[in-house]
This record gives sequence, C-alpha cells and structure tokens, in this order.
Amino acid sequence: MGASAVKPGSLSRREFLGVSGQAGLGAWGVMAGGGALLAGQAGAAQREAVGGVREIHLEAREMTWEIAPGKRIKAMGYNGQIPGPELRLREGERVRIVLKNALPEPTTIHWHGVDVPNSMDGVPGITQKPVQPGETFTYEFEATPAGTRWYHTHFQEHKQLDLGLYAPLIIEPARPDPFPFDREYSLVLDDWATGTGRPLPGTGEGTAAGRGGMGRMMKGMMGRGGMGGMMGAGGEPVYDTMTINGKAYPATQPLKIRKGERVRLRLINASADTTHVIRLAGHRLNVTHTDGNPLMQPVEVDVVPLAPAERYDVAFLADRPGAWFVYCTQPGHSGAGEQVLLVYEGHETDEAQAPVEGTAGLRLWRYNLGQGLEILPHPSGQERFFDLTLNGGMMGSDVWTINGRQYPQTDPLRLRKGDLARVRFRNQSMEAHPMHLHGQSFKVLSVNGQRLPASIVKDTVDVEAHMGSVVVEFTAHNPGDWFFHCHKPMHMEGGMITLAKIG
Ligand code: C2O
Ligand code: CU
Repeated sequence: MGASAVKPGSLSRREFLGVSGQAGLGAWGVMAGGGALLAGQAGAAQREAVGGVREIHLEAREMTWEIAPGKRIKAMGYNGQIPGPELRLREGERVRIVLKNALPEPTTIHWHGVDVPNSMDGVPGITQKPVQPGETFTYEFEATPAGTRWYHTHFQEHKQLDLGLYAPLIIEPARPDPFPFDREYSLVLDDWATGTGRPLPGTGEGTAAGRGGMGRMMKGMMGRGGMGGMMGAGGEPVYDTMTINGKAYPATQPLKIRKGERVRLRLINASADTTHVIRLAGHRLNVTHTDGNPLMQPVEVDVVPLAPAERYDVAFLADRPGAWFVYCTQPGHSGAGEQVLLVYEGHETDEAQAPVEGTAGLRLWRYNLGQGLEILPHPSGQERFFDLTLNGGMMGSDVWTINGRQYPQTDPLRLRKGDLARVRFRNQSMEAHPMHLHGQSFKVLSVNGQRLPASIVKDTVDVEAHMGSVVVEFTAHNPGDWFFHCHKPMHMEGGMITLAKIG
C-alpha cells in the first residue's frame, strides 16, 4: 500500500471499507454516510435511491477477458467484469436490481443465500420466465440475512456460470458485526476450461469431515487426461486454469494490508466442479462465518476447504510483516493460477515463499469444528423427515438422481410454512455433492453419522462421496417452490434436483 493509504483508526469502518474496496477489489466501495456509492472500474452499474429503494443496474454480456497475462478468452460477465460488481447492501434495505440481458441467449440471476420472495429467486421455468436477449427483468427484495452471499446466473449454468456470470453480494449487518475487522477482501475462486492448459486432476472431494477419497482423483487420471480441449470423457469440461477474482497468477491483484490490522477474507467458491483448499502462508485463519452465518466463536485452522458454492469468512491478525501467498493447496491449483500475494505495507519488494501443495500436518476446517448461532426462525408447525439418496454418474454417465429419479421426476418435499424439515442425504455415488437449498438456510445437524456439538448454519452442504451422509434441518419459513440441488452444474443438469414446496 502506498503513501496515500489511510491510517486505520483515523476513519470509520465504512469509510475504510470504501478505500479497501477501491484498492483491492476494483469493485464497489461504500462511502461514509451510507448514501452514495463509488462506481468501480467498470463504472456501468448505477445506484440511486428511488423512493427509498436502492436501484442497481446489471448488464450480462459476452466479452473477451484476459484471464492471465496475454491469455484472452471468450467469457460472459456482468458489467464487463469478472467477477461482476460486488454488491454491498445493508441488512433490511430494499433493493431493486435491473438486469439487462445483452447476451445472445436467455439468462436469469439467482441471489444465492438471500431469503428473497419466491418470484425473485431466478429459477427459469419455476419462479420466472427466462430473460430473453435484449429484455430486462427487475429483481426486488429486502436484503436479508446479513453475511457473505453471492449472485450468479441460473440459466444453463454449465455454460454461463463457467464463463463468468457470478459476483459477491455482501449484506452488512444492521447490528454491530460480531467479529469486527479493519479491512476486508472478497476472494472469488473459479475453475476454467480454457482448452489451453494442462488438465488438472479432479481432486475436489470431501470438505465435510476431511475424510477425502480417491474417486475424483482416479476419474481425473482416467477420464480427463490428454484431451486438451474443452471437454473430457463423459462430456465434462476439462479444467485447466484456476482464478482468484477472475485472474490467474501472476495477474491476480495483490491484497494490501498493514501491520496490526484485523483482516477479514470472504472466500467464495464459484467453481462448477472444483473444491479448493485455501491457505495463507505464515498465518493461521480464524473461521468466523459459514456460508455467511456467524459462529459462536472463531475456529482457528491452517486451511479451509470450500466445495462449489460454499463461502467462509476467515479472519487473521496482521502480525507477520512480509509478502505471503494466499493459495490453494490442491495439487496443481496454485500452478494453474490460484494464488494471490498478500503484501504488508512497506514490504512491497519482499520475496514471498512459493506455495506448498498438500495439507500434511495442517489443521483443516471441518463442519464439526464449528458451533453455530441460533439464528434461524423457530418452527411452529409439524416435524417432517425426508430421506434422500444421491446417486448417479455410473460408468461415466451424466445421469444424476435423488432416490433413483431425475428431476423433474423427483418427489418434492411438501411442507407448510412453519414446519420443521429434517433431511438426510446419503451419497451412494463416487463424487461429492454440494447440496444447496434456495430461499432459506439450514442447520447442519450431523455429518457421516456424527452429530455436531452445535449445528452450524449454511445454505450449501457438501455430502461426501462413497456413502457420505449429512443431516440438515430447517424451518420452512419462506413460502414458494424452492430448488434444492447439487450445485455442480453438470450434476444439476443430470437431474440431481428436487423442490421444497412450502405452502
Ligand atoms: Cu447458487 Cu440454484 O444456486
Ligand atoms: Cu453433485
């Protein structure tokens, strides 16, 4: 950080955020007073109060994106950037977001982790018609609950999400933050099939209890090697490039901090298929939020695995001046671009030690380490139990099922508002499935038969391969038809979707 950097303590947190947003994210900063907004580098999104409702404009369009120095790819982005503009909302605030579709194909936006009204949920064919090329669609909702959320396309995600239609959505708590910080950065992780690099082994497995497995690794070696194109065996994309905030190292934008600061990183995995295991060299990380929802107290670990669509807020005290890499420990990932420098002021020319692959001897985050807060609405209705067996992908097939059926043949979870739904997932397939519920969050009660000491709150839970199991529970408080699906687009496309019908 240069001489123009602000002194911590000399500005309010909101002002400070504005500065860090400009410096680090190239996205949006919030100015003091909370009214105006600084447009980021793209500058196209506008925000103004219209009758007390904040209005934001997003345009989805095709674009060329320089993913790494000299490496340009055809992509899709919101307002010409990847990730799209980071939206920062105040908890409880009403927002109107006008999506203009400048793509040559339909699209929609889903507000992942936000308790929106059903008609604003962005699921084509269920909650809205696809937004056709040239059309606009206006989303309007109240920003709740607070936390690290994100937004992304929900139309042909295996293509559109893969090409860059995603961005962070941060809802700042109305009450004081339980874990205050001086500076923050959002880091959005993504896997890319550019057809130009060496295919990476699919090692994404088992974030739930760290048990891991070899299924994906084997598949990676057997089915994915040597194709050199966009698609591998079984029609799955071959991921060869890994990015942080849309860029592969050395194009990743360094994160600047100052000694003594409490820094929060908001980790968001926007990948279609890949689990990332994130480490900050020289520091331990304190997990404070799971999918945006606060824990009772931080959990200190060395590395944090994130399945697709998962988010973790992690905090650390900046007490080891120097230059350090934030990176993924999965084999090949840092080399494929997934590393970003974290530089203390005054250490801009320091040499950072190279990333070390693997997690031997390191403490990994696991679901059962966290103790969640009781933040979900209390039930007032019946208790209902659902047993969902996840299966598919046999012999490389692209059929993925819940209780033996492919969506739309899957049985919906029928609930009344106020009911307490308990869902047990059992995974009989060879791949992990990050299961995501729209419209409301759930508690994770147990993982692989082991009860959590105090259930954590999430909206996406990774069910491990090879007989992994997870039990979640939620109060059906948001009426409507809600997707409950595997967040890997190929699996979703293959049928691993059911509906929670809340009447
Ligand atoms: Cu983040 Cu149905 O999606
Ligand atoms: Cu899946």
